[in-house]
Amino acid sequence: MTIGIMGAMVEEIEPILEYYKEYEIVEYASNKFFIVQNEDKKLVIAYSKIGKVFASITAVTMIEKFGSEKILFSGVAGAINEQLKIGDLIVATKLCQHDVDITAFGHPFGYIPEGKVFIEADKGLIEIAKNVSSDLNIELKDGVIATGDQFIADSAKKEWIKNNFHADALEMEGASVAVVCDSLNIPFLILRAISDSADMDASFSFDEFLKTSAKVSAEFIISMVKKL
Ligand code: ADE
Repeated sequence: MTIGIMGAMVEEIEPILEYYKEYEIVEYASNKFFIVQNEDKKLVIAYSKIGKVFASITAVTMIEKFGSEKILFSGVAGAINEQLKIGDLIVATKLCQHDVDITAFGHPFGYIPEGKVFIEADKGLIEIAKNVSSDLNIELKDGVIATGDQFIADSAKKEWIKNNFHADALEMEGASVAVVCDSLNIPFLILRAISDSADMDASFSFDEFLKTSAKVSAEFIISMVKKL
């Protein structure tokens, strides 16, 4: 089985590469793909660069060029739900694009004609993630993740995303990976550890906790791979 494992930033995949140690590097589409042969599984690991467009390119490449049959995304997110604290893990049940706005034509926020506001993640992969969390005694929350091409560092904007999409966390790639995988019929899972609260302190908090939170998420993904 071939599994794509992606992050947006190098810090989000570094702990995974350090764990597997040996990999082949294939350069494609202005990016590097790290190929690991792990017993009977082939892992295709990459960071996309930040944002929906780069994440889409990487997800498509993992599927169409490298034959990934599942995609796991590992990284950090800003918390919307007040129960989510720095380092907490959240797996997306469904994802939306909070920055899509063609409301001028009478559509709801986040809606593109012939698309959907919310895309559901794969229930089987979420179930495996829940089993891993109970086996390891690590708390794993689930909820709605909202994605947009903006780093949110503003409480009013965060409230707006919360009210419009009932989102629990926000980041900049998940929903685009969801659109790609939904279109190509590839099961996917988006896992994030909290790095900040998307408020006025978000950029400082992000810089402080990016590495540690990314590691929390990456280590969970490594445990998940063993169950696939
Ligand atoms: N990823 C982590 N924190 C974020 C934030 N505040 N806004 C967007 N993406 C993020």
